Amino acid sequence: MNIIKAILPYGLVTHKWVLNPKKIIKNILPYGIATIISKRNANKIYTGDYLKSKYVSDLTENEKWALLAILLFLESKQEEVKYLEVGIYAGGTIKFLKENSVKSKFTGVDLFEDFKPSTDNTHMWKNYTQAQVWEALGKERVTLLKGFSVDSLSALKQENKEFDFIFIDGNHTYKATKEDFKHSLPLLKVGSYVAFHNCSPGMTQEDKYYIKLDGGPWKLAHEILLENNFQLVDSIDRVKIFRRKK
Ligand SMILES: C[S@@+](CC[C@H](N)C(=O)[O-])C[C@H]1O[C@@H](n2cnc3c(N)ncnc32)[C@H](O)[C@@H]1O
Repeated sequence: MNIIKAILPYGLVTHKWVLNPKKIIKNILPYGIATIISKRNANKIYTGDYLKSKYVSDLTENEKWALLAILLFLESKQEEVKYLEVGIYAGGTIKFLKENSVKSKFTGVDLFEDFKPSTDNTHMWKNYTQAQVWEALGKERVTLLKGFSVDSLSALKQENKEFDFIFIDGNHTYKATKEDFKHSLPLLKVGSYVAFHNCSPGMTQEDKYYIKLDGGPWKLAHEILLENNFQLVDSIDRVKIFRRKK
């Protein structure tokens, strides 16, 4: 590292001047020291214990509660409810749903530590390992499958598995979301639910980026709306939830 850069204030080097007490202190520390502290803090976050203590989820409160409402509705009608999430990252959404439900069973599909950034995948963050996420969620009522989503969905189809509710939130290109949806269809009976994340153009920079890229989940969600095989039952923040009609 360049010695002059290392001793300059962090905020001056990065131009990340933010008016928040913690950030102000970081901004006036020498760059070298601030980056060592940041790395240490990041390592603390990438542990099973951290995941146990927090809901590390990409969803807003509104979005998590909207998914929970569907699960609880299904729980009131059925003996057992099967939920599948495609792309679970740290498992925070499943953690929230599990802790607020009684009989739902959860399956999570992700690449976990095998994820490698690529130009055709919108995911960019460092991932947690499958073992860390499983440790945080507990094994009771939870199954985690590691691998490419389309392979895991095909394997579930081979095993004749069906789900009452599938939440698709993996790679957010239109092409990949459509593939995940296509491979989810054989797992969804008439009357089951499917939801997508990142469907709302005006919400975040990420959503705008996905739309610019190739339409992203927003484009697919609108095709589903227009095709009329699914009924839109809820649309909140960046989530859209559909019920299969045909
Ligand atoms: C936006 S995060 C998921 C957030 C999570 N649903 C939540 O509620 O917090 C996207 C996840 O999809 C996973 N992913 C991306 N492409 C994938 C693929 N082709 N197969 C399986 N998982 C994938 C990434 O590893 C990442 O953990």
